[in-house]
Amino acid sequence: MSRLAGKVAIVTGAAAGLGAEFARQFVAEGAQVVLADIAEAEGAAVAHDLGKNAHFIRLDITDPAQWRTTVEETRAMFGPPTVLVNNAGIVEFGSFLDASVDSMRRTLDVNVIGAWLGIQAVVPSMTAAGGGSIVNVSSDAGMKGYPRLSAYVSSKWAVRGLTRSAALELGHRGIRVNAVLPGLIDTPMGRGSLHGLDPSDVLADSPTPRIGRPEEVAALMVFLASDESGYCSGADYQADGGMLAGNALRGE
Ligand SMILES: NC(=O)c1ccc[n+]([C@@H]2O[C@H](COP(=O)([O-])OP(=O)(O)OC[C@H]3O[C@@H](n4cnc5c(N)ncnc54)[C@H](O)[C@@H]3O)[C@@H](O)[C@H]2O)c1
Repeated sequence: MSRLAGKVAIVTGAAAGLGAEFARQFVAEGAQVVLADIAEAEGAAVAHDLGKNAHFIRLDITDPAQWRTTVEETRAMFGPPTVLVNNAGIVEFGSFLDASVDSMRRTLDVNVIGAWLGIQAVVPSMTAAGGGSIVNVSSDAGMKGYPRLSAYVSSKWAVRGLTRSAALELGHRGIRVNAVLPGLIDTPMGRGSLHGLDPSDVLADSPTPRIGRPEEVAALMVFLASDESGYCSGADYQADGGMLAGNALRGE
């Protein structure tokens, strides 16, 4: 398979969960991939498993200097990046009465400013390469509210706004920018957010009442990274089993 032949991708948060699966499918489709994460041992192990077309770089996405180094190292290793997946993210639970302002700031710093910095860092080389595809990972929480998740929800709505603004500003450079909105997916973050509850109970009112698999989101990511999506920009793409469509139990 070679739907991504010739592409050079940077995937953030690629040491685990969704990012690791994006990197895996990208390499399988012929891309050369930089896996960027703060988790060094895990990220290096995933890159090692993926072989010569994968390379791990330690990157804290909140640091502009580290972004510059990451883009430079990518260019030196594989060539200028033509795909950026802003996937790294964090979630912290807390009600309005007990959450700290530090938690709010940390969440926005990673989930929003981290993605914003990534776009800023790759645009010059992506432009010089003739264009590319940027995909920002939002969430079903970017389309609705959740109690005890005001920081995360705010950040994921912001990612959708960032996506549209970037699509408008960067289109003339040949750069497409889209957002992917996963629902509940079987990753360390997804499992952790269940707090021990059964996913089929939590998702009982969804048309697909089960937890999603990372591969099911990665298939959409491959499409958005590839030239197959050449006329797609500035849009939201849900991979959520239909949970945002409404309450399926009312249709029984
Ligand atoms: N799993 C779900 O159910 C779900 C649902 C909707 C959206 N998402 C979103 O998908 C993305 C990936 O989620 P996941 O479930 O794979 O999460 P995860 O926690 O399993 O993995 C996230 C990765 O991001 C890395 N990371 C965290 N902070 C970082 C930083 N400052 N710099 C670089 N790397 C950093 C972590 O080390 C980790 O490897 C996130 O943006 C998340 O909000 C996940």
